[in-house]
Amino acid sequence: MSIDKIISLCKRRGFIFQSSEIYGGFGAVYDYGPLGTTLKNNISQIWWQAMTQFHENIVGIDSGILMHPKIWEASGHVDAFNDPLVDCKQCKARYPANELFDGNPEDGEWDNIQCPKCGTTGNLTEPRQFNLMFKTHIGPVQKDANVAYLRPETAQGIYVNYLLTQNAMRLKIPFGIAQIGKAFRNEIIARNFIFRTREFEQLEMQYFVKPGEDDQSMLDWKDKRIAFYSQLGIDSSKLRLQEHGADELAHYAKEAWDIEFEFPFGWSEIEGIHNRTDFDLARHQEFSGKKMEVFDQETNEHYLPYIIETSAGLNRMLLAVLSEAYWEDSKNNRVVMKFHPQIAPVTAAVCPLVKKDGLPEMGRKVMDIVKPHFKVIYDQQGSIGKRYYRQDEAGTPYGITIDHQSLEDKTVTLRHRDSQQQDRVAIDQLVSAITESMENYT
Ligand code: GAP
Repeated sequence: MSIDKIISLCKRRGFIFQSSEIYGGFGAVYDYGPLGTTLKNNISQIWWQAMTQFHENIVGIDSGILMHPKIWEASGHVDAFNDPLVDCKQCKARYPANELFDGNPEDGEWDNIQCPKCGTTGNLTEPRQFNLMFKTHIGPVQKDANVAYLRPETAQGIYVNYLLTQNAMRLKIPFGIAQIGKAFRNEIIARNFIFRTREFEQLEMQYFVKPGEDDQSMLDWKDKRIAFYSQLGIDSSKLRLQEHGADELAHYAKEAWDIEFEFPFGWSEIEGIHNRTDFDLARHQEFSGKKMEVFDQETNEHYLPYIIETSAGLNRMLLAVLSEAYWEDSKNNRVVMKFHPQIAPVTAAVCPLVKKDGLPEMGRKVMDIVKPHFKVIYDQQGSIGKRYYRQDEAGTPYGITIDHQSLEDKTVTLRHRDSQQQDRVAIDQLVSAITESMENYT
């Protein structure tokens, strides 16, 4: 299945739009329409719950996107968050060096490599480092002293607040701090729809452990994180864990694993699990001059905890959910987004069969009964078949149809999206019938 089919459905049904479309678009930025926004919120809520509700020792925070610029010097992002790039002197195209040369860019024989765009050889420059952080200035004067960065990861906002959080919430090691928020990277080549963009959302959790207990914690979090994806309706056969080789490790990591998903364009990273050791806290201690150690009352020791990080991209999770849900039901000539009902943007559509005979009025009464429990929409436009198919594409798991029999015996039909099976249900049993079906969905 090609990603283009998903892109087209996303636009048609109001999931995702290209940014600034009326101006010809804006590179690698996307806007989320009504269904996309709700789906994205549902996913992040499940993650937030899994972290902060199901773990008594994990709390959530929300730090600023703009922070003290020294944070990014301490974290190593000013010096080390670079991609080596090469330029073609002939056609001015720019490429990440590792796209054109398989190995250490320093060793590349750039004179012998052909430019993929203009086809000339011998025109590529030596690789040059390019920092991925977006720079801005605080206040009206654009001078070096006023430089600030848009955060390239949410993690640092957790590190610089971790002692305040620990004290306020009286947490003991091991404990975790979770955060959901936007991050920004000036990606050279953004590609594959919302997979790699310049503005994206991260779901990050930093788990503070005693040094020596980090390897076990890494194992635990790898298991927990891969198991999480079943809650989003993602089959385990579409997921795998891949370890980073020594030459791939980020500057802060002692050990790193990616959770990869089989996207329509191949296996790619959706989440990273990293053992960051005490790298970040030690650097903040050095750069701020403030003690970053915890005090362990039981052992009477001060120490810098190690950090196990789980870091997922919300937009990538969303793309995985969209890819997994897309189903061409050729037997019935329809496209269905088979979202798990717990995350579907709309749970049910209420449809009076015709726009007369008192059916719309009864439909409105059904809306009032179901609305407090689920996200429902009212739809009376077009033939009932067209309405069902429209909702199938939107991934709405249930259709509630009010027909002439409803007026007589106060029942409706409950249509199940995937099987198209219809059950007759008493209106006063509708909420429990939907709840039960959602709980038993496979
Ligand atoms: N704090 C660690 C960190 O940021 P990362 O591997 O660079 O680690 C973590 O990023 C996750 O953020 C990735 O697994 C991915 O899901 C998401 N991500 C990173 N860059 C992205 C981009 N340009 N567009 C969309 N998501 C991105």
